[in-house]
Amino acid sequence: MSDFISDYWSYYITAISLVGIAWCVWLLFSQRRVPKSQVVTEDTGHVWDGDLRELNNPLPRWWMWMFLLACIFSLGYLVLYPGLGSYAGVLGFSSQGELAAHRQAAEKIQNEIYGKYMAMDVTKVAADPEAREIGQRLFLNYCAQCHGSDARGSRGFPNLADNDWLYGGDPDTIRQTIAKGRNGMMPPFAGTIDAKLAGDTAQYVRSLSGLASDPIRASRGEGTFKTTCAACHGASGKGNQALGAPNLSDSVWLYGSSENAIVEAILKGHNGHMPAHEEILTPERIRMLTAYVWGLSNTGAAGQ
Ligand code: HEC
Ligand code: HEC
Repeated sequence: MSDFISDYWSYYITAISLVGIAWCVWLLFSQRRVPKSQVVTEDTGHVWDGDLRELNNPLPRWWMWMFLLACIFSLGYLVLYPGLGSYAGVLGFSSQGELAAHRQAAEKIQNEIYGKYMAMDVTKVAADPEAREIGQRLFLNYCAQCHGSDARGSRGFPNLADNDWLYGGDPDTIRQTIAKGRNGMMPPFAGTIDAKLAGDTAQYVRSLSGLASDPIRASRGEGTFKTTCAACHGASGKGNQALGAPNLSDSVWLYGSSENAIVEAILKGHNGHMPAHEEILTPERIRMLTAYVWGLSNTGAAGQ
């Protein structure tokens, strides 16, 4: 009710509610007194299906009492709970307050559970079966829609269960990635590199990881790689974790290793976006997730 800019609607709703109840009570009493002469069962004259006749009996007493009690109950309710315009009710109940109380109670229980992990080393947390279960549940809730329920990713969404990292796989970098998010920025080169040269450069990129490539075209593309791409991907294509520039000399591909996929990367660029989670996840939850993700590719150390 606090959304209203003036008190008018509050009074309006209060009046409608109270007048409505008063009208119900009035209706009841106005219909209660049946003249003695009419107490005899009277036929209204309406007949259905040949022999179903509608009678005009006075209201049964039990029904009148129930009706009256319902009116009294509604008045009592409106005194205790919000309902009359912006009046908050004697009990001060609000659904937001109830939600906040439930959330506080839940967070208290969770913090007791998470508390002991906050003091532990991330690598130890990753080895704890109970912590892994919590981590997995959080992962399924918050991360699986992009990285897959097995964390193995898909095109454009990195596999988190291997040992190949765009930004780094140590616990602190993983925590940073989850909390702050990441933006991979591969600029489009369509303005400076034509399709033919892009194809040749793609051949050179394929040769870096030992994939089948045409040596003549690859050598034509090598110069472009050295002048344009090496700045981010490194002279030998090993990538740069500070920029999130992928290693192009291994067998892991975020967007695909075919000539077409690489040409598309060169001409159109890529902009992988990992959203920041610090606004929606408590530090405790981010820690559980960090340990879970770290444990996925450090299975030996995580004691599995
Ligand atoms: C909306 C989709 C989306 C969601 C949700 C998401 N991610 Fe990501 N994540 C990405 C993308 C895309 C990247 C790659 C960013 C890039 O290309 O630069 C990424 C990158 C990462 C990386 C870096 C991987 C590397 O190789 O360095 C980690 C770690 C990660 N995500 C963990 C998580 C965790 C944990 C969650 C759940 C809290 C999560 N992500 C939720 C899309 C998502
Ligand atoms: C400004 C830095 C920068 C430059 C210059 C750059 N790249 Fe990239 N490149 C990136 C980043 C960052 C990504 C990851 C994009 C993402 O995460 O969505 C990427 C992704 C790629 C991919 C996809 C890799 C995969 O695993 O699927 C290819 C292929 C690629 N670059 C090739 C090139 C080539 C060839 C050039 C030169 C013509 C080049 N890049 C120049 C930063 C750069």
